[in-house]
Amino acid sequence: MADTAERVATGTDIRKAFGLRPEPVCAITTCDEWGERIGMTATAVTSVSLDPPMLLVCVNSKALIASSLRAGMPFVVHFLTAEQEEIARRLASPIEDKFQGVSHRMNATGAARLDEAGAILECEPSQIHETGDHIVVIGQVTRVDVGATDAPPLVFHGGAFTTVRSAREAAQQTTQSPASRRQEARHS
Ligand SMILES: Cc1cc2nc3c(=O)[nH]c(=O)nc-3n(C[C@H](O)[C@H](O)[C@H](O)COP(=O)(O)O)c2cc1C
Repeated sequence: MADTAERVATGTDIRKAFGLRPEPVCAITTCDEWGERIGMTATAVTSVSLDPPMLLVCVNSKALIASSLRAGMPFVVHFLTAEQEEIARRLASPIEDKFQGVSHRMNATGAARLDEAGAILECEPSQIHETGDHIVVIGQVTRVDVGATDAPPLVFHGGAFTTVRSAREAAQQTTQSPASRRQEARHS
């Protein structure tokens, strides 16, 4: 930790530091002015206010979705599950049709709602801040759907996709005897 005062932080340093932090993985969807589906993977998603319900997302200014958000298009935030890793990879790739093979239906505003997400939060953008190389979009949450699945969350940590067990699951595992754990594993 010596001579840190003289060092100038870079984007690579930020990436390295945030790589130490397990981040839940989200998918953000909306549509463009021609009604085409747009989507991207994001971890920079935070709850902001409960009353009124608001959240924020930080999006690279050059991402395709940025122009729709700047234009005020409603958007949908999905909390992805460990079973949706392939979707997270697709939406993070610069491919032609990100939604091919991705199970979803369209909402009234033309954004894709991905089936089997842990939670789906529909939002109206209320403030946009151009900040560095990202835009910070604060959205008013207009609808929340949870409970479609009890699959564990998809998490990004140390540059890789992973997941976490709930405290209840972890406690169940530690209180079980090795014999009953073996028996359960045989039947799963
Ligand atoms: C795990 C993960 C998290 C990401 N988080 C963000 C994020 O919070 N904000 C962002 O702008 N890009 C993020 N990205 C990168 C975008 O998903 C990626 O650049 C995407 O291709 C942008 O969409 P576009 O190609 O349609 O412009 C993330 C990528 C991954 C794999």
